[in-house]
Amino acid sequence: MDWCTIVEVAVVAYIVLQLVRLLFADCDLQLQWTDKFGRSTGVLTRKVVWITGASSGIGEYLSYELAKAGCRLVLSARREGELQRVKKECLSYGTLMDDDILVLPLDMLKFDLHQPAVDEVLSRFKQIDVLVNNAGRSQRAQWEKTDLQVDRDMLEINVLSVLSLTKLVLPHMLERKEGHIVNMSSVSGKLGSPLSGSYTGAKHALQGWFDCLRVEMFPRNITVTNICPGPVFSNLLKGSFTENSGELLGVEMKEGEKRMNTRRCARLCAVAIANKLDEVWIALQPILLFVYIGQYMPTIAGWCFKRAGVKFMMKFREGQH
Ligand SMILES: NC(=O)c1ccc[n+]([C@@H]2O[C@H](COP(=O)([O-])OP(=O)(O)OC[C@H]3O[C@@H](n4cnc5c(N)ncnc54)[C@H](OP(=O)(O)O)[C@@H]3O)[C@@H](O)[C@H]2O)c1
Repeated sequence: MDWCTIVEVAVVAYIVLQLVRLLFADCDLQLQWTDKFGRSTGVLTRKVVWITGASSGIGEYLSYELAKAGCRLVLSARREGELQRVKKECLSYGTLMDDDILVLPLDMLKFDLHQPAVDEVLSRFKQIDVLVNNAGRSQRAQWEKTDLQVDRDMLEINVLSVLSLTKLVLPHMLERKEGHIVNMSSVSGKLGSPLSGSYTGAKHALQGWFDCLRVEMFPRNITVTNICPGPVFSNLLKGSFTENSGELLGVEMKEGEKRMNTRRCARLCAVAIANKLDEVWIALQPILLFVYIGQYMPTIAGWCFKRAGVKFMMKFREGQH
């Protein structure tokens, strides 16, 4: 065999290996590799991590992962009782003292309360190492029937409240010359998700805003991580918007549905944070494959998604395949 053939065989073998890895993966290949061979979440020990939306779902389980890693935590959401429950569970791992966790009730839509909240965290811990912008809402609605007020409300909770809090935390991080902003985006921040126009638009906006910040902040030692989960078990559908202003979907996710386990999703989020990855995709198949095709072969993806139709795509999204 000449050198050209050896190189060709090596390239084909590499591509086949990556495809096989991808078929069995529940996250993008970089994160899968990092989970096995990257830095352990132990590097986060004693870091101060502020998680919004910590009272339920992904934020709740991420709090547990980070508590196990020994992070000092600020837990925020609107329901104080639920935050106290999460705090109790975090303390049960034996890695933290009562003083290491601050329960800080905060309605992200009350923008005037953001500065006092930042002040309270800094007066308690003197530093914020990581801000996890996780609080958010989803949607099920037909695009053409969606009230413009729903679009506005979606942008308020999923984008503007995140920008507001981040803008208040950034000066502190810049002063310390270090910091990490983490955003809970979605696979819907990468692909168009039918019947979730406002949500998809908001998550795309979040990606755009923070992709710019990442480049601007790189020389100043501030990291930006965008996390894009696919369907994950949580209470997201209960509080999801519909097409009508003020209406909530009120749907519970059911056990048999094909969604990722919340603990697994949170574990991968913690790995992404510990390793300061720029963007990660966390989803079961075939959604993960759809994201890969959407990212690397957008023309083919566009052709397929249009022809597959809304019903077909929603089956995967609702875990009914
Ligand atoms: N689960 C999924 O399939 C999935 C997929 C992709 C992305 N995501 C994203 O993951 C994030 C977390 O969602 P989840 O799935 O864990 O849903 P979840 O169980 O419903 O959790 C949402 C969290 O956001 C908080 N929240 C909602 N409105 C708030 C407000 N106005 N102010 C402060 N906190 C507020 C809720 O707490 P309170 O009600 O106590 O305020 C709750 O802790 C969201 O950004 C979502 O878009 C989820």
